[in-house]
Amino acid sequence: MRSTLVSQFGDPRQVIALVDVEQPAPAAGEVEVALSLAAINPSDLIPVTGAYSARTTLPFVPGFEGFGIVTRTGSGVSSLKPGDRVIPIGASGLWQQNLLRPAEWCFALPDDIGDTDAATCYVNPLTALQLIEALRKHFGSLERRRIGVTAAGSAIGGMLMKLLAGEGVDAIGIVRSERSAERLAREVPGQVVIGDERHPPQLRLDAIIDAVGAPFAGDLIRHTLEPGGAFVQYGALSGVPVPQTAIQARPDCRFSFLWLRTWVHSAGRPAIEAAFAKSFDGLRSGLFSSRIAAIYPLSQLDAALAHQVDPGRDGKLLLDPRC
Ligand SMILES: NC(=O)c1ccc[n+]([C@@H]2O[C@H](COP(=O)([O-])OP(=O)(O)OC[C@H]3O[C@@H](n4cnc5c(N)ncnc54)[C@H](OP(=O)(O)O)[C@@H]3O)[C@@H](O)[C@H]2O)c1
Repeated sequence: MRSTLVSQFGDPRQVIALVDVEQPAPAAGEVEVALSLAAINPSDLIPVTGAYSARTTLPFVPGFEGFGIVTRTGSGVSSLKPGDRVIPIGASGLWQQNLLRPAEWCFALPDDIGDTDAATCYVNPLTALQLIEALRKHFGSLERRRIGVTAAGSAIGGMLMKLLAGEGVDAIGIVRSERSAERLAREVPGQVVIGDERHPPQLRLDAIIDAVGAPFAGDLIRHTLEPGGAFVQYGALSGVPVPQTAIQARPDCRFSFLWLRTWVHSAGRPAIEAAFAKSFDGLRSGLFSSRIAAIYPLSQLDAALAHQVDPGRDGKLLLDPRC
């Protein structure tokens, strides 16, 4: 079967290989899932670069998000059967034709969730929900708080803007270009401003939800965060984490890092099922819908990865592992 493999860390376009591998049968407790669609997310590519080399074991198959159809079940599996539509989570490996995964890490997908929604129902919606929860824990009610969202033009940035508006927050989306600002202002409630480290926005914020990292995040912490504020980091699109000096300079504020993977591996199945139920509701209402820029056959991975880094990319890219 067709698969991908990372045998050494480096530029994803150089080190993710397309390979043909044998398909073993599912072991006890496992199911085989024929993957229908998989997403390409920044969080799939960052481990490939070696950024988390201490906790990434080579070789590995990338891809944390997607869905498929159960084709075979190992002994002892009673919760799933061939034909079931599922979201397999808990480890990477979705950029291949067929995946073996413990049945306990597969979640049922309702029939009314369409294919592209199904392929994007996990990583960003569940992270966005956890980010809002982290702020609720800090502030109690979020109503009327002024909360900034960096990289607001990203798929998850749009979801956060909509979720914050639903909480009565005065949400401010921060983007780095005029083009993104215009698009975002059409699509989400709240204010949209342009800003980066060269042109920091003049704002006063109770909280910042950041996916950009240094140096921009350091500037925001120093100059925009109100006393007693909260800063939640969940990404570092600049490639550089928030500097400790910026954090140490604001002992009055609360800093935290949210990683979906940590939550998923500690939350327990009922909490994950409840989060998926919210994700499906959000997909039905449009709250969690991601714009899809293109779907590439897995066999055209090179073209997909080139498109992923194109600054003109306008939405998520999906891979079709069947072709
Ligand atoms: N911690 C977690 O568990 C977790 C989970 C989900 C996502 N994330 C993180 O969330 C971030 C966004 O993910 P996504 O799937 O929503 O990405 P995405 O839809 O691919 O969007 C990425 C967008 O971010 C903007 N961007 C990229 N680099 C930037 C920079 N240096 N400064 C400002 N904006 C920048 C660009 O938007 P414009 O074209 O509008 O500039 C780009 O299109 C990533 O860092 C990802 O790792 C983390």
